[in-house]
Amino acid sequence: MSVFSNVQQGPPIEVFALTKAFTDDTFPNKVNLGVGAYRTENGQPWVLPVVKKAEKIIAEDETLTKEYLPVLGLDSFTAAVTKMVLGDDSPAIRENRAFGIQCLSGTGALRVCAEFLSRQLGYKTFYISSPTWENHTLVFKNAGFHEVRTYRYWCEKKRGLDLEGMLQDLRNAPERSVVILHACAHNPTGCDPTPEQWEKIADVVQEKQLFPVLDTAYQGFASGDLDNDAYTIRYFVNRGFETMICQSFAKNFGLYNERVGNLVCVVNNPCAIVNVKSQFTLIIRGMYSNPPSHGARVVSFVLNNAQLYDEWKEAIKTMASRVVNMRHALRDALERFGTPGTWNHITSQIGMFSYTGLTEEQVLHLIQNHHVYLLRSGRINMCGLNASNVEYVAKAIHDAVTAYPRQKL
Ligand code: LMR
Repeated sequence: MSVFSNVQQGPPIEVFALTKAFTDDTFPNKVNLGVGAYRTENGQPWVLPVVKKAEKIIAEDETLTKEYLPVLGLDSFTAAVTKMVLGDDSPAIRENRAFGIQCLSGTGALRVCAEFLSRQLGYKTFYISSPTWENHTLVFKNAGFHEVRTYRYWCEKKRGLDLEGMLQDLRNAPERSVVILHACAHNPTGCDPTPEQWEKIADVVQEKQLFPVLDTAYQGFASGDLDNDAYTIRYFVNRGFETMICQSFAKNFGLYNERVGNLVCVVNNPCAIVNVKSQFTLIIRGMYSNPPSHGARVVSFVLNNAQLYDEWKEAIKTMASRVVNMRHALRDALERFGTPGTWNHITSQIGMFSYTGLTEEQVLHLIQNHHVYLLRSGRINMCGLNASNVEYVAKAIHDAVTAYPRQKL
Protein backbone atom coordinates (compact mmCIF):
# COMPACT_ATOMS: atom_id res chain seq x y z
CA MET A 1 0.00 0.00 0.00
CA SER A 2 1.33 3.42 -0.91
CA VAL A 3 0.17 6.81 0.32
CA PHE A 4 -0.04 7.65 -3.38
CA SER A 5 -2.35 4.77 -4.35
CA ASN A 6 -5.56 6.75 -4.32
CA VAL A 7 -4.34 9.65 -6.42
CA GLN A 8 -6.70 10.15 -9.34
CA GLN A 9 -5.39 10.87 -12.79
CA GLY A 10 -5.98 14.51 -13.73
CA PRO A 11 -7.15 15.58 -17.17
CA PRO A 12 -4.45 16.33 -19.76
CA ILE A 13 -3.60 19.96 -20.60
CA GLU A 14 -5.13 20.14 -24.05
CA VAL A 15 -2.63 22.49 -25.64
CA PHE A 16 0.42 20.51 -24.53
CA ALA A 17 -1.19 17.11 -25.27
CA LEU A 18 -1.76 18.44 -28.78
CA THR A 19 1.92 19.39 -29.14
CA LYS A 20 2.88 15.86 -28.07
CA ALA A 21 0.43 14.25 -30.53
CA PHE A 22 1.83 16.47 -33.29
CA THR A 23 5.43 15.58 -32.42
CA ASP A 24 4.61 11.85 -32.40
CA ASP A 25 2.81 12.05 -35.76
CA THR A 26 5.04 10.74 -38.58
CA PHE A 27 2.97 12.17 -41.46
CA PRO A 28 5.29 14.41 -43.52
CA ASN A 29 2.80 17.23 -44.17
CA LYS A 30 1.50 17.54 -40.62
CA VAL A 31 0.73 21.08 -39.42
CA ASN A 32 0.67 22.33 -35.84
CA LEU A 33 -1.80 25.18 -35.29
CA GLY A 34 -2.13 24.44 -31.58
CA VAL A 35 0.20 26.00 -29.03
CA GLY A 36 0.64 29.76 -29.25
CA ALA A 37 4.24 30.10 -30.36
CA TYR A 38 5.72 32.00 -33.29
CA ARG A 39 7.05 30.13 -36.32
CA THR A 40 9.07 31.57 -39.20
CA GLU A 41 8.10 31.34 -42.86
CA ASN A 42 9.99 28.02 -42.82
CA GLY A 43 7.90 26.72 -39.96
CA GLN A 44 10.73 27.00 -37.44
CA PRO A 45 10.83 28.55 -33.94
CA TRP A 46 12.61 31.92 -33.92
CA VAL A 47 15.14 33.12 -31.36
CA LEU A 48 15.13 36.85 -32.07
CA PRO A 49 18.54 38.08 -33.31
CA VAL A 50 18.40 40.92 -30.77
CA VAL A 51 17.98 38.36 -27.98
CA LYS A 52 21.03 36.41 -29.20
CA LYS A 53 23.02 39.63 -29.34
CA ALA A 54 22.08 40.53 -25.77
CA GLU A 55 22.78 36.99 -24.57
CA LYS A 56 26.30 37.06 -25.99
CA ILE A 57 27.11 40.36 -24.30
CA ILE A 58 25.62 39.17 -21.01
CA ALA A 59 27.61 35.91 -21.19
CA GLU A 60 30.86 37.86 -21.59
CA ASP A 61 30.11 40.34 -18.81
CA GLU A 62 32.36 39.37 -15.88
CA THR A 63 30.53 41.67 -13.49
CA LEU A 64 27.37 39.56 -13.69
CA THR A 65 27.14 36.75 -11.18
CA LYS A 66 24.70 34.04 -10.18
CA GLU A 67 23.88 35.67 -6.85
CA TYR A 68 20.19 35.76 -5.85
CA LEU A 69 18.06 38.51 -7.29
CA PRO A 70 15.86 40.52 -4.91
CA VAL A 71 12.53 38.78 -4.19
CA LEU A 72 10.64 41.29 -6.36
CA GLY A 73 13.15 40.93 -9.20
CA LEU A 74 15.65 42.93 -11.19
CA ASP A 75 14.96 46.68 -10.80
CA SER A 76 16.28 47.66 -14.24
CA PHE A 77 13.89 45.11 -15.79
CA THR A 78 10.76 45.97 -13.81
CA ALA A 79 11.27 49.72 -14.31
CA ALA A 80 11.80 49.38 -18.08
CA VAL A 81 8.87 47.07 -18.73
CA THR A 82 6.52 49.02 -16.49
CA LYS A 83 7.35 52.12 -18.51
CA MET A 84 6.93 50.19 -21.73
CA VAL A 85 3.39 49.21 -20.87
CA LEU A 86 2.19 52.37 -19.09
CA GLY A 87 3.90 54.78 -21.48
CA ASP A 88 6.71 57.32 -21.07
CA ASP A 89 4.36 60.02 -19.85
CA SER A 90 2.21 57.87 -17.57
CA PRO A 91 0.75 59.89 -14.69
CA ALA A 92 0.87 56.75 -12.51
CA ILE A 93 4.66 56.56 -12.93
CA ARG A 94 5.11 60.31 -12.50
CA GLU A 95 3.10 60.24 -9.28
CA ASN A 96 4.94 57.16 -7.97
CA ARG A 97 1.74 55.13 -7.94
CA ALA A 98 2.97 52.21 -10.05
CA PHE A 99 5.62 49.58 -9.57
CA GLY A 100 6.57 46.31 -11.21
CA ILE A 101 7.36 42.87 -9.83
CA GLN A 102 9.34 40.39 -11.90
CA CYS A 103 7.34 37.18 -12.25
CA LEU A 104 7.49 33.79 -13.96
CA SER A 105 6.02 34.91 -17.27
CA GLY A 106 2.38 35.98 -17.64
CA THR A 107 1.14 32.93 -15.76
CA GLY A 108 3.38 33.72 -12.80
CA ALA A 109 2.22 37.34 -12.82
CA LEU A 110 -1.39 36.18 -12.78
CA ARG A 111 -0.69 33.82 -9.90
CA VAL A 112 1.10 36.42 -7.77
CA CYS A 113 -1.66 38.89 -8.54
CA ALA A 114 -4.37 36.37 -7.61
CA GLU A 115 -2.58 35.41 -4.38
CA PHE A 116 -2.46 39.05 -3.34
CA LEU A 117 -6.08 39.75 -4.26
CA SER A 118 -7.37 36.71 -2.43
CA ARG A 119 -5.07 36.62 0.62
CA GLN A 120 -4.48 40.32 1.25
CA LEU A 121 -7.59 41.99 -0.15
CA GLY A 122 -10.07 39.17 0.50
CA TYR A 123 -11.46 38.87 -3.04
CA LYS A 124 -13.03 35.46 -3.64
CA THR A 125 -14.97 35.80 -6.91
CA PHE A 126 -13.42 36.32 -10.30
CA TYR A 127 -14.85 36.81 -13.75
CA ILE A 128 -13.42 35.45 -16.96
CA SER A 129 -14.60 36.00 -20.49
CA SER A 130 -16.49 33.21 -22.22
CA PRO A 131 -14.34 31.85 -23.74
CA THR A 132 -10.91 32.62 -22.29
CA TRP A 133 -7.40 31.18 -22.05
CA GLU A 134 -8.04 27.87 -20.28
CA ASN A 135 -5.43 28.45 -17.57
CA HIS A 136 -7.07 31.54 -16.00
CA THR A 137 -9.43 29.40 -13.92
CA LEU A 138 -6.78 27.03 -12.57
CA VAL A 139 -4.41 29.86 -11.65
CA PHE A 140 -7.04 31.87 -9.77
CA LYS A 141 -8.55 28.84 -8.02
CA ASN A 142 -5.16 27.59 -6.91
CA ALA A 143 -4.51 31.05 -5.47
CA GLY A 144 -7.52 30.84 -3.14
CA PHE A 145 -10.43 32.16 -5.22
CA HIS A 146 -13.61 30.18 -4.55
CA GLU A 147 -15.93 31.26 -7.27
CA VAL A 148 -15.38 31.52 -10.98
CA ARG A 149 -18.00 33.29 -13.06
CA THR A 150 -18.08 34.04 -16.75
CA TYR A 151 -19.11 37.12 -18.67
CA ARG A 152 -20.40 36.80 -22.20
CA TYR A 153 -17.82 37.84 -24.74
CA TRP A 154 -18.00 35.97 -28.03
CA CYS A 155 -21.12 35.94 -30.14
CA GLU A 156 -20.93 32.86 -32.34
CA LYS A 157 -23.65 34.13 -34.63
CA LYS A 158 -22.01 37.39 -35.57
CA ARG A 159 -18.49 36.07 -34.98
CA GLY A 160 -17.74 39.14 -32.91
CA LEU A 161 -18.02 40.71 -29.49
CA ASP A 162 -21.25 40.36 -27.51
CA LEU A 163 -20.90 43.77 -25.90
CA GLU A 164 -24.43 43.94 -24.53
CA GLY A 165 -24.09 40.48 -22.97
CA MET A 166 -20.73 41.40 -21.48
CA LEU A 167 -22.01 44.64 -19.95
CA GLN A 168 -25.10 42.95 -18.59
CA ASP A 169 -23.08 40.15 -16.93
CA LEU A 170 -20.65 42.63 -15.38
CA ARG A 171 -23.55 44.77 -14.17
CA ASN A 172 -24.89 41.69 -12.37
CA ALA A 173 -21.56 40.92 -10.72
CA PRO A 174 -21.64 40.71 -6.93
CA GLU A 175 -19.72 43.41 -5.10
CA ARG A 176 -16.02 42.83 -4.64
CA SER A 177 -15.50 40.76 -7.75
CA VAL A 178 -12.34 40.67 -9.81
CA VAL A 179 -12.67 40.84 -13.57
CA ILE A 180 -9.93 39.55 -15.85
CA LEU A 181 -9.76 41.55 -19.08
CA HIS A 182 -7.56 40.75 -22.06
CA ALA A 183 -5.80 44.01 -22.85
CA CYS A 184 -5.24 43.20 -26.51
CA ALA A 185 -5.46 40.29 -28.95
CA HIS A 186 -7.99 38.33 -26.92
CA ASN A 187 -7.04 34.67 -26.52
CA PRO A 188 -8.67 32.61 -28.06
CA THR A 189 -10.97 34.79 -30.18
CA GLY A 190 -8.59 37.44 -31.58
CA CYS A 191 -11.51 39.84 -31.17
CA ASP A 192 -11.02 43.03 -29.12
CA PRO A 193 -13.45 45.75 -28.08
CA THR A 194 -13.10 49.11 -29.84
CA PRO A 195 -12.05 52.18 -27.80
CA GLU A 196 -15.72 53.24 -27.56
CA GLN A 197 -16.65 49.77 -26.31
CA TRP A 198 -13.80 49.82 -23.77
CA GLU A 199 -15.21 53.08 -22.45
CA LYS A 200 -18.55 51.41 -21.79
CA ILE A 201 -16.85 48.40 -20.19
CA ALA A 202 -14.77 50.69 -17.95
CA ASP A 203 -17.95 52.57 -16.95
CA VAL A 204 -19.48 49.35 -15.63
CA VAL A 205 -16.25 48.27 -13.91
CA GLN A 206 -16.23 51.65 -12.16
CA GLU A 207 -19.95 51.70 -11.34
CA LYS A 208 -19.83 48.18 -9.84
CA GLN A 209 -16.43 48.76 -8.21
CA LEU A 210 -14.99 45.64 -9.78
CA PHE A 211 -11.24 45.13 -9.58
CA PRO A 212 -9.80 44.98 -13.11
CA VAL A 213 -6.90 42.62 -13.83
CA LEU A 214 -5.45 43.40 -17.24
CA ASP A 215 -3.77 40.45 -18.88
CA THR A 216 -1.33 41.45 -21.63
CA ALA A 217 0.60 38.73 -23.42
CA TYR A 218 0.89 40.28 -26.88
CA GLN A 219 2.04 43.90 -26.57
CA GLY A 220 3.51 44.78 -29.97
CA PHE A 221 2.84 41.33 -31.34
CA ALA A 222 -0.77 42.13 -32.17
CA SER A 223 -0.52 45.27 -34.29
CA GLY A 224 3.26 45.58 -34.64
CA ASP A 225 3.14 48.74 -32.50
CA LEU A 226 3.86 48.75 -28.76
CA ASP A 227 1.85 51.88 -28.00
CA ASN A 228 -1.14 50.78 -29.99
CA ASP A 229 -1.34 47.46 -28.18
CA ALA A 230 -1.08 49.17 -24.78
CA TYR A 231 -4.09 51.39 -25.49
CA THR A 232 -6.54 49.65 -23.15
CA ILE A 233 -4.11 49.51 -20.26
CA ARG A 234 -3.23 53.18 -20.52
CA TYR A 235 -6.91 54.03 -20.84
CA PHE A 236 -7.76 52.23 -17.58
CA VAL A 237 -4.74 53.60 -15.73
CA ASN A 238 -5.17 57.16 -16.98
CA ARG A 239 -8.83 57.02 -16.00
CA GLY A 240 -7.70 56.47 -12.43
CA PHE A 241 -8.44 52.77 -11.83
CA GLU A 242 -6.41 50.84 -9.32
CA THR A 243 -5.41 47.73 -11.18
CA MET A 244 -2.87 44.97 -11.71
CA ILE A 245 -1.38 44.31 -15.12
CA CYS A 246 0.07 40.90 -15.96
CA GLN A 247 2.76 41.14 -18.63
CA SER A 248 4.32 38.26 -20.52
CA PHE A 249 7.45 38.40 -22.68
CA ALA A 250 6.94 34.91 -24.12
CA LYS A 251 5.50 35.97 -27.46
CA ASN A 252 6.81 39.46 -28.13
CA PHE A 253 10.41 38.58 -27.10
CA GLY A 254 10.14 34.91 -28.08
CA LEU A 255 11.29 34.01 -24.54
CA TYR A 256 8.74 31.25 -23.98
CA ASN A 257 10.77 28.91 -21.80
CA GLU A 258 12.71 31.63 -19.98
CA ARG A 259 9.53 32.56 -18.09
CA VAL A 260 9.91 36.33 -18.14
CA GLY A 261 6.97 38.33 -16.88
CA ASN A 262 6.09 41.38 -14.84
CA LEU A 263 3.20 42.31 -12.60
CA VAL A 264 2.45 46.02 -12.55
CA CYS A 265 0.55 47.20 -9.53
CA VAL A 266 -1.14 50.60 -9.80
CA VAL A 267 -2.43 52.15 -6.57
CA ASN A 268 -4.07 55.46 -5.80
CA ASN A 269 -2.25 56.07 -2.55
CA PRO A 270 1.56 56.02 -2.93
CA CYS A 271 1.93 55.80 0.87
CA ALA A 272 0.49 52.26 0.71
CA ILE A 273 3.27 51.01 -1.54
CA VAL A 274 5.82 50.10 1.12
CA ASN A 275 3.32 47.85 2.89
CA VAL A 276 1.94 46.41 -0.33
CA LYS A 277 5.42 45.54 -1.53
CA SER A 278 6.21 43.87 1.78
CA GLN A 279 3.19 41.57 1.37
CA PHE A 280 4.09 40.74 -2.24
CA THR A 281 7.56 39.90 -0.93
CA LEU A 282 6.10 37.38 1.54
CA ILE A 283 3.85 35.83 -1.11
CA ILE A 284 6.77 35.27 -3.47
CA ARG A 285 9.17 34.20 -0.74
CA GLY A 286 6.66 31.49 0.20
CA MET A 287 6.22 30.29 -3.38
CA TYR A 288 9.61 30.34 -5.09
CA SER A 289 11.71 32.74 -3.01
CA ASN A 290 13.09 34.84 -5.86
CA PRO A 291 13.03 34.85 -9.66
CA PRO A 292 15.60 33.63 -12.20
CA SER A 293 17.80 36.26 -13.81
CA HIS A 294 18.59 35.28 -17.38
CA GLY A 295 15.46 36.26 -19.32
CA ALA A 296 14.93 39.41 -17.28
CA ARG A 297 18.52 40.49 -17.94
CA VAL A 298 18.01 40.00 -21.67
CA VAL A 299 14.83 42.09 -21.75
CA SER A 300 16.35 44.74 -19.52
CA PHE A 301 19.47 44.93 -21.66
CA VAL A 302 17.47 45.41 -24.84
CA LEU A 303 15.01 47.94 -23.44
CA ASN A 304 17.76 50.02 -21.84
CA ASN A 305 19.76 50.33 -25.06
CA ALA A 306 18.19 52.63 -27.67
CA GLN A 307 19.65 50.81 -30.65
CA LEU A 308 18.67 47.33 -29.46
CA TYR A 309 15.22 48.61 -28.51
CA ASP A 310 14.75 49.72 -32.13
CA GLU A 311 16.00 46.37 -33.41
CA TRP A 312 13.50 44.61 -31.20
CA LYS A 313 10.66 46.79 -32.49
CA GLU A 314 11.60 45.75 -36.03
CA ALA A 315 11.49 42.08 -35.02
CA ILE A 316 8.03 42.60 -33.56
CA LYS A 317 6.88 44.17 -36.81
CA THR A 318 8.24 41.20 -38.77
CA MET A 319 6.26 38.78 -36.60
CA ALA A 320 3.05 40.82 -36.60
CA SER A 321 3.07 41.38 -40.35
CA ARG A 322 3.71 37.71 -41.10
CA VAL A 323 0.60 36.88 -39.08
CA VAL A 324 -1.44 39.44 -41.02
CA ASN A 325 -0.18 38.02 -44.34
CA MET A 326 -1.18 34.53 -43.27
CA ARG A 327 -4.64 35.74 -42.31
CA HIS A 328 -5.12 37.03 -45.84
CA ALA A 329 -3.61 33.93 -47.43
CA LEU A 330 -5.90 31.57 -45.48
CA ARG A 331 -9.02 33.60 -46.11
CA ASP A 332 -8.20 33.97 -49.84
CA ALA A 333 -7.67 30.24 -50.22
CA LEU A 334 -10.92 29.33 -48.42
CA GLU A 335 -12.87 31.82 -50.53
CA ARG A 336 -11.20 30.60 -53.71
CA PHE A 337 -12.21 27.02 -52.89
CA GLY A 338 -15.77 28.18 -52.21
CA THR A 339 -15.63 26.69 -48.70
CA PRO A 340 -19.14 26.93 -47.20
CA GLY A 341 -19.54 29.76 -44.66
CA THR A 342 -18.02 33.21 -44.39
CA TRP A 343 -14.33 33.73 -43.71
CA ASN A 344 -13.94 37.48 -43.30
CA HIS A 345 -13.51 37.04 -39.52
CA ILE A 346 -10.07 35.53 -40.19
CA THR A 347 -8.77 38.89 -41.38
CA SER A 348 -10.74 41.04 -38.95
CA GLN A 349 -9.42 39.22 -35.86
CA ILE A 350 -6.00 40.24 -34.54
CA GLY A 351 -3.01 38.74 -32.78
CA MET A 352 -1.68 35.26 -32.76
CA PHE A 353 -4.96 33.39 -32.89
CA SER A 354 -7.96 33.04 -35.09
CA TYR A 355 -11.19 31.66 -33.75
CA THR A 356 -12.26 29.87 -36.87
CA GLY A 357 -15.78 28.87 -35.90
CA LEU A 358 -14.94 25.25 -36.75
CA THR A 359 -16.97 22.77 -34.70
CA GLU A 360 -15.51 20.03 -32.53
CA GLU A 361 -16.42 17.39 -35.14
CA GLN A 362 -14.67 19.37 -37.84
CA VAL A 363 -11.62 19.82 -35.61
CA LEU A 364 -11.40 16.08 -34.95
CA HIS A 365 -11.71 15.41 -38.67
CA LEU A 366 -8.84 17.83 -39.34
CA ILE A 367 -6.61 16.15 -36.78
CA GLN A 368 -7.45 12.56 -37.64
CA ASN A 369 -7.73 12.76 -41.41
CA HIS A 370 -5.46 15.64 -42.35
CA HIS A 371 -2.89 15.80 -39.53
CA VAL A 372 -3.75 19.47 -38.96
CA TYR A 373 -3.62 20.04 -35.20
CA LEU A 374 -5.77 22.69 -33.52
CA LEU A 375 -7.68 23.19 -30.27
CA ARG A 376 -11.16 21.67 -29.87
CA SER A 377 -12.57 25.19 -29.63
CA GLY A 378 -11.54 25.83 -33.24
CA ARG A 379 -8.73 28.20 -32.24
CA ILE A 380 -5.77 28.18 -34.59
CA ASN A 381 -2.33 29.67 -34.13
CA MET A 382 -1.88 31.75 -37.29
CA CYS A 383 1.92 31.51 -36.95
CA GLY A 384 1.76 27.80 -37.76
CA LEU A 385 0.79 28.73 -41.32
CA ASN A 386 3.24 29.59 -44.07
CA ALA A 387 3.32 29.85 -47.86
CA SER A 388 4.08 26.12 -48.16
CA ASN A 389 1.23 24.79 -46.03
CA VAL A 390 -1.60 27.34 -46.21
CA GLU A 391 -3.25 25.78 -49.27
CA TYR A 392 -3.01 22.34 -47.69
CA VAL A 393 -4.67 23.63 -44.52
CA ALA A 394 -7.37 25.49 -46.48
CA LYS A 395 -8.17 22.32 -48.47
CA ALA A 396 -8.33 20.33 -45.24
CA ILE A 397 -10.71 22.89 -43.70
CA HIS A 398 -12.79 22.80 -46.88
CA ASP A 399 -13.04 19.03 -46.59
CA ALA A 400 -13.94 19.15 -42.88
CA VAL A 401 -16.61 21.82 -43.38
CA THR A 402 -18.10 19.90 -46.30
CA ALA A 403 -18.02 16.54 -44.48
CA TYR A 404 -19.61 17.95 -41.32
CA PRO A 405 -21.86 20.84 -42.33
CA ARG A 406 -22.58 23.35 -39.59
CA GLN A 407 -26.06 23.72 -38.17
CA LYS A 408 -27.50 27.14 -38.92
CA LEU A 409 -27.23 29.35 -35.84
C1 LMR B 1 -1.45 29.27 -25.72
O1 LMR B 1 -2.51 29.85 -25.42
O2 LMR B 1 -1.38 28.40 -26.59
C2 LMR B 1 -0.16 29.65 -25.03
O3 LMR B 1 -0.35 30.79 -24.26
C3 LMR B 1 0.45 28.53 -24.32
C4 LMR B 1 -0.24 28.16 -23.05
O4 LMR B 1 0.42 28.19 -22.01
O5 LMR B 1 -1.44 27.86 -23.07
